Amino acid sequence: MDDDVYEKYKRAGKILAEARDYGAGLVKPGVSFLEVANSVESKILDEGVGLSFPVNISRNEIAAHYSPRHDDKLVFKKGDVIKLDVGSHVDGYIADTAVTVEVETHKYDDMIKASSDALDKAISLMKADVSLSKIGKAIEETVKSYGYKPIDNLTGHSLERYQLHSGMSVPNVSNMFNKIKPKAGDVLAIEPFATNGGGHVISGNGSNIYMCERSFRSRAVRDNRSKILFNKMKNEFKTLPFAERWSEKLFPNSDLVLRRLSYLRLIRQYPQLIEINGGIITQKEHTVIVTEDGCEVTTYEKGHKVTT
Ligand code: CO
Repeated sequence: MDDDVYEKYKRAGKILAEARDYGAGLVKPGVSFLEVANSVESKILDEGVGLSFPVNISRNEIAAHYSPRHDDKLVFKKGDVIKLDVGSHVDGYIADTAVTVEVETHKYDDMIKASSDALDKAISLMKADVSLSKIGKAIEETVKSYGYKPIDNLTGHSLERYQLHSGMSVPNVSNMFNKIKPKAGDVLAIEPFATNGGGHVISGNGSNIYMCERSFRSRAVRDNRSKILFNKMKNEFKTLPFAERWSEKLFPNSDLVLRRLSYLRLIRQYPQLIEINGGIITQKEHTVIVTEDGCEVTTYEKGHKVTT
């Protein structure tokens, strides 16, 4: 990785870590999801750093993929278990990090610790040529040692320029079929989840998060207006996920546009990911740059001390 690219990854991570911790501090009873999403996104943008995906605020049995709509009414309540998952990029070089906040209660402290310890463990093992199955096994064992289950069908992922999921998966369970090994310079988001449910997620309602399809047969679309709208979206959001809130700024009353373009399969809405038995879910995530003998975390909080 050349110095210029390295510095971009580092800056994306540093600004994002600050925004994540700032956002986590805003999660209080009575505060709206919308206020936290907008505040965190503004904080990142104010630094001149881009957003690699909308702020995800996922409550209780929702593992991931909920972002408030522009007119969202949800507010945090005492006892909520909130996953705040945020993403930035500098010139397309991405950082991705998440933290779990339990709102004013401490019922799930050990589940929060389970996903956090599993992440520390994974980071301590990560290096060039390590088997990703071994990382998954360590995550699974750590989560289980707390009496919880990892989510077996959610994984971490490799990052490439303007690509949030670029092909390599970092499993959260032992997976002997995963023979892939990272090499120095690869950038990975590692994200263990823990649950008191079944350990599996299924697709739920829409997330209010969309993405432009990478390739489409433009000749197959006869409707010129849709084509123009799609091109405008693609120019704005490129290959990265975007929020209904962002589309609303681009086209007021964007619901119809989003529905039309989804119908034509030019864009796609992500579903919410819900625990199969309705179990509570915790998550922690960092982005790392793999090196020959370890990895460098780009999204640690200021003054982070390695404890493992
Ligand atoms: Co993430």
